[in-house]
Amino acid sequence: MADTETVSFPQDRTCPYHPPAEYRPQNDGQKPLSPARLFDGRRVWLVTGHAEARALLVDRRLSADRENTEFPVFTERVARSTKRRIELIGVDDPEHNAQRRMLIPSFSVKRTAALRPRIQETVDRLLDAMIEQGPPTDLVSAFALPVPSMVICALLGVPYADHDFFESQSRRLLRGPGAADVEAARAALDEYFRTLIERKRSDRGEGLLDELITQQLDTGAISRDELVQLAEILLVAGHETTANMISLGTFTLLQHPDQLDRLRTSEDLMPAAVEELLRFLSIADGISRVATEDIEVGGVTIRAGEGVVLSTSVINRDEAAYPSPDELDLGRPSRHHVAFGFGVHQCLGQNLARAELEIALRTLFDRLPELRLAAPVEEIPFKPGDTIQGMLELPVAW
Ligand code: HEM
Repeated sequence: MADTETVSFPQDRTCPYHPPAEYRPQNDGQKPLSPARLFDGRRVWLVTGHAEARALLVDRRLSADRENTEFPVFTERVARSTKRRIELIGVDDPEHNAQRRMLIPSFSVKRTAALRPRIQETVDRLLDAMIEQGPPTDLVSAFALPVPSMVICALLGVPYADHDFFESQSRRLLRGPGAADVEAARAALDEYFRTLIERKRSDRGEGLLDELITQQLDTGAISRDELVQLAEILLVAGHETTANMISLGTFTLLQHPDQLDRLRTSEDLMPAAVEELLRFLSIADGISRVATEDIEVGGVTIRAGEGVVLSTSVINRDEAAYPSPDELDLGRPSRHHVAFGFGVHQCLGQNLARAELEIALRTLFDRLPELRLAAPVEEIPFKPGDTIQGMLELPVAW
């Protein structure tokens, strides 16, 4: 790998909705791949070109295997915690394909469409409570987090009454300060799901977890440990990501009143608006892979064993793919963005996330037309660069 001046990855955003300036290809033309440095000094390839990213994300010579010792990690806490296999998101085919096929029917467009009335009901109920309590309020804890948390609980068949427990454990897993936090959070979630699965085995309920127990665990197609991990991944991925899109999406719309007006006056704009917000905000910024063979791409050779990090925020601002990419334009065709990744690991919950975002944002701005920030922008805490991007709190009034 060339030993030119390298950018460090990840970095905190200075504006919650723009990529850090240093992530962008500098000086030497618009290079689609450049060397970057991780927290421990390790060099990886940072991918910032849209065409190259899409080519790499379908290239079988890049592995998502978290057990590979060369797999890039972004924080010392993850590097120092015990490496373990991570099902689905962290395995390659053929295992990946077998696991994904078990889950796909539950996340289809049709199954997700059937969940819409339930999502609407959840959103309405949370807004009723928020309005009854009156302003100001923290939109993250009152709305942005509970919406996806309640929806994923209903889908999986996990009791929402346990949400304080699993929300705090996923916070610890994704943002706890040390390796001990990562390990303790994993152990606590493992134990929680082992117990829940045992309970469901003798007293079946209605969720996806119950279906998987009947169809996969009891038939011996998967082990209990595998099911425990799949459940954890779905629960964590299902609420942490969408919650950040709701909070950061709301903040971004409030900061772009012209776009918010467009959204209010055009009934049909919502699906395109959600797609553009996904592109513009790219909250899962940094998809990691490791090369298992040499790969020629974008004028460089990625050597076998080298790490590759795809910065979705910069890829989604590639001028070759999106004219005036730094402008939020809710009417633009934003398809082909990589905010949900691309290729075999592309987000399994994307239809669900879209439905939640459409319903949550539409209902929020319909019911609270006077919604505004209740604190100066500089005082609103947003998340550090080494995790999913979003707001820690979002004080609002109406
Ligand atoms: C707006 C919200 C969301 C964003 C931005 C997002 C983003 C992503 C991204 C970038 C990936 C690809 C990771 C990679 O290639 O390594 C991914 C995978 C995944 N997402 Fe999402 N996600 C969101 C919502 C959800 C929801 C609601 C669920 C529901 C369970 C979910 C479940 C998953 C799963 C299971 C995978 C792994 C798929 C696989 O490896 O085959 N996500 N997501």
